[in-house]
Amino acid sequence: MITTITLNPAIDKTITVEQFKLNAVNRVVRVHEDVGGKGINVSKVLQHLEVKTLACGFIGEANYGLVQPHLKRLGLSTDFVFVDALTRINTKIIDPIAKSTTDINESGFTVSRVQIEQLKIMLRAYANQSRFMVFSGSVCQGIDLDTYVELIKAVQPTPWVLDADRQILKIGIQYQPYIVKPNIHELEDLLERKLNNHEEVIAAAQALIQEYKIGYCLVSMGELGSILVTKDKAYIANALEVDLVSTVGAGDSMLAGFLFGLTKGCSDADALRYATSCGAIAVSGVSLSAFQDVDIEALKSSVKLSVIDLV
Ligand SMILES: Nc1ncnc2c1ncn2[C@@H]1O[C@H](COP(=O)(O)OP(=O)(O)OP(=O)(O)O)[C@@H](O)[C@H]1O
Ligand SMILES: [Mg+2]
Repeated sequence: MITTITLNPAIDKTITVEQFKLNAVNRVVRVHEDVGGKGINVSKVLQHLEVKTLACGFIGEANYGLVQPHLKRLGLSTDFVFVDALTRINTKIIDPIAKSTTDINESGFTVSRVQIEQLKIMLRAYANQSRFMVFSGSVCQGIDLDTYVELIKAVQPTPWVLDADRQILKIGIQYQPYIVKPNIHELEDLLERKLNNHEEVIAAAQALIQEYKIGYCLVSMGELGSILVTKDKAYIANALEVDLVSTVGAGDSMLAGFLFGLTKGCSDADALRYATSCGAIAVSGVSLSAFQDVDIEALKSSVKLSVIDLV
């Protein structure tokens, strides 16, 4: 089983408005709502790939009635610590004519010490039954960096995965994640310098792997593809050419694809091919419910990789 941990879940509400204007009355063409948060997104994709997964973390009790139907529709296994508050609503206004997207994100609830302790107990129990524990995304209020480390320690020694940015990436990476998945901007932000070419990305990832005893550093670079670095090899994968619909969730899908490959016992190169395929599916706008209809094996065989020996 792969357990994902979402500390700051959201109800993602996408509103389509043609010719969206500020200071005016706008007419909504379409509304779409789904439960979101990066860990939950990883679980959704894993579920479609038929990998046993459980999404856990915190969830707001006050509007759980809005969340539950989505979980039910997805058939997702979940276990949450309930917080006596609202799960935040993240609103995205899409204007198909201006081709613009406006995000209005709430900051989310605050968790108490008691709720954090409840989550630690939950994580400890699931870590014992999981192949990977996946920490994805931002944290809610009430979780400071020390608390984040406590949560990591609660899942160890089960291999854990880190997909987060800024301070969380900075602190988390020091606690031996098995896989870390920064995008290029997150990696540059962590190192406080620009990475100008593949060689620099590989050298930087290799240094992190050695310093923090990380198993895999998977650096995604949007339409430029990705670079996977292990102790002794680097793999460079081109992105697949797709008609871009939305880049939302590309990284989460990529991570799910990579974990899918590892869980199947694939080679590292093939796991990266699955990762690239899932990233491409996400950006081509295939809805998660149609994910399983895509011929992932055919996509995977079209991914171009090059391998560099690092030893
Ligand atoms: N425009 C694109 N065309 C084709 N593939 C893409 C495109 N954008 C992203 N991908 C695929 O998805 C992978 C992950 O994308 P990206 O680097 O944008 O992730 P991310 O920044 O972590 O995303 P997220 O916002 O979900 O965290 C890329 O490595 C690539 O394989
Ligand atoms: Mg990302």
